[in-house]
Amino acid sequence: MYEQVSHSLLNEILDELKPEIRKQDLRHFYTRLGANFYAIHSLFHVLYGERDDFKEQMIHLVEVMASQYIKRPDALEKLDIEREQDHNWFLSQEWVGMALYSDGFAGNLKGLEEKLSYFNELGINMVHVMPILKCPEGASDGGYAVSDFRDIDPRAGSLDDLLSLATSMRKRGILLTLDVVLNHTSNEHLWAQKARQGETQYQDYYYIFENREIPDMFEETMPEIFPQTAPGNFTWDEAMEKWVMTVFNNYQWDLNYCNPAVFIEMLDIILFWSNHGADIIRLDAVAFLWKKIGTTSQNQREAHLILQLMKDCCQVTAPGVLFIAEAIVAPVEIAKYFGEDAVIAKECEIAYNATYMALLWDAVATKSTKLLNQGIQSLPDKLDRATWLNYIRCHDDIGLGFDDTDIRLSGYEPQAHRKFLVDYYTGVYDDSPARGQPFGYNEKSGDVRISGSLASLIGLEAALERNDPVEIDIAIKKILLLNSMIFSFGGMPLLYYGDELGTLNDYSYLEDENKAMDSRWLHRPRIDWDKAELRFQHGSIEQRIFDGVKNMIAVRKRISAFADFNNRELLHLQNPHLFAFLRTNLDRPGESILVVGNFDDSPQFLELNELGNRGNFEYGRLRDVYSGKSPNLFNDQLVIPPNQFYWLTD
Ligand code: GLC
Repeated sequence: MYEQVSHSLLNEILDELKPEIRKQDLRHFYTRLGANFYAIHSLFHVLYGERDDFKEQMIHLVEVMASQYIKRPDALEKLDIEREQDHNWFLSQEWVGMALYSDGFAGNLKGLEEKLSYFNELGINMVHVMPILKCPEGASDGGYAVSDFRDIDPRAGSLDDLLSLATSMRKRGILLTLDVVLNHTSNEHLWAQKARQGETQYQDYYYIFENREIPDMFEETMPEIFPQTAPGNFTWDEAMEKWVMTVFNNYQWDLNYCNPAVFIEMLDIILFWSNHGADIIRLDAVAFLWKKIGTTSQNQREAHLILQLMKDCCQVTAPGVLFIAEAIVAPVEIAKYFGEDAVIAKECEIAYNATYMALLWDAVATKSTKLLNQGIQSLPDKLDRATWLNYIRCHDDIGLGFDDTDIRLSGYEPQAHRKFLVDYYTGVYDDSPARGQPFGYNEKSGDVRISGSLASLIGLEAALERNDPVEIDIAIKKILLLNSMIFSFGGMPLLYYGDELGTLNDYSYLEDENKAMDSRWLHRPRIDWDKAELRFQHGSIEQRIFDGVKNMIAVRKRISAFADFNNRELLHLQNPHLFAFLRTNLDRPGESILVVGNFDDSPQFLELNELGNRGNFEYGRLRDVYSGKSPNLFNDQLVIPPNQFYWLTD
């Protein structure tokens, strides 16, 4: 939009830019800056307009965008332009992701590069390499306590290793996703060290207080994230003799975005990694970016404004780069990280579908899809040009963050139902084959979350202990059922490394004092590549899961109805064990896929007339595109075998 104030300011800023920037050919940069400047200026003004140094900060912001644009490699700029032209590129069903720790997967970044053919073998074309930046030697929250945002941790490798990996991935058509931990730094970060030495400029980067007065006010309404290992939200720092806000662990200092210098530093870092080959940046813990006394200090309006501003600025310098919002919050809040009151995504293009993940685990435990159906029905509509990351497991715990109203509407009492789920997955409940462990028990609220690998939570570990082929078979079917749900739902499926091979819990973390207190390490495995060879041995567990997933990936890529254009219709069926939805190719409406999953241990039946006049599904013509076979029928009803699914075409 053209608006006089911002445009005259823009002209002034351009005149005042450093000579080395002015000399450059910045044609694309200027057109994008012109297009986005009204929004950038307005947002920056809402956040920082009261400050005397507003204009200086604004000039600095533009300089950072311009300097990083100048450094942007030609190959990446070419990609930017291609992606601008094909702006829906990431909604295609062709993308399938995997998240992994480079050390657990292959030792380090070099090892990971050597293993790239594995992704091609399976069909993975987006890899989220979890934190690899410099972090403390001891506890570092799995690398989420960063001590240098521009350097690779020597245990993972070097910047050259990362560049080489990024180049090799691009050649193979695999997208690279890297983390930028926006909300906090490690207490070993240079900024924190300088703050400790008394430099007020850096103390202003954090929330630092002389006494408990303000911290106590915050504590009245702020929940605790790691209540067992890091109770409270503030830590006393001996060197400064002051209190620092530490929402996560006591060694993770929260950054203060009331300070524009922090915003500009972090934008610079996002652009730095964009220029080092990241196609997608995962923005960690975005719900926490703005703190306000009297609130939970999560999901604040200003946190959204910061993300919008980051997106607008990133679009000027590196428009091909996407953002993932890691906001594991209430269902209605998550969708806001695409951007509120907008048509197309204006904050993050991608968000973790934590709601769907938790609902799927509910359906497994209860063998009922009541809450799953209810929860998905309440899932807010997604914006255009925005997509979900659909996942079953990740490196974090499973939080039971469903909506209480949805739980009640499904016929359960919220507290009792959550307790049942935790008991079920931690193996307390008698009838459960799950082998999870509790995580983050909060004595005050009674809340608790769940750790454990997909295979162990689903019952494979227990089945193997009992050497029970029937139970093993059920566990494998359930693993494939859950995968079929994330592959077909709409959005990018994100596998978690090892799950494609049925990797069990890893208990070795208990022997490491830096990990023993954090049960999430239970499901952060080291891949045993000798064992992984079993995927080539017909009938092995590894082969059945790996080939099942591999086939699902291949089939998904062929089916354009699986692309994510908000083209899913949830079906309300009578049968409480089935979850079914229709995916339609909007370009060719006749082309639909009926997805149906049976979460029960007995066969379930579906009357096709329950579909009304949707699609042309007729008993005689149905075909399951996953298996290539016709589904079973009984008395003119579709039979869905126990713990199985169909992807049906008419
Ligand atoms: C995110 C990460 C999690 C980490 C937290 C604090 O939620 O996924 O692993 O503990 O942020 O950085």
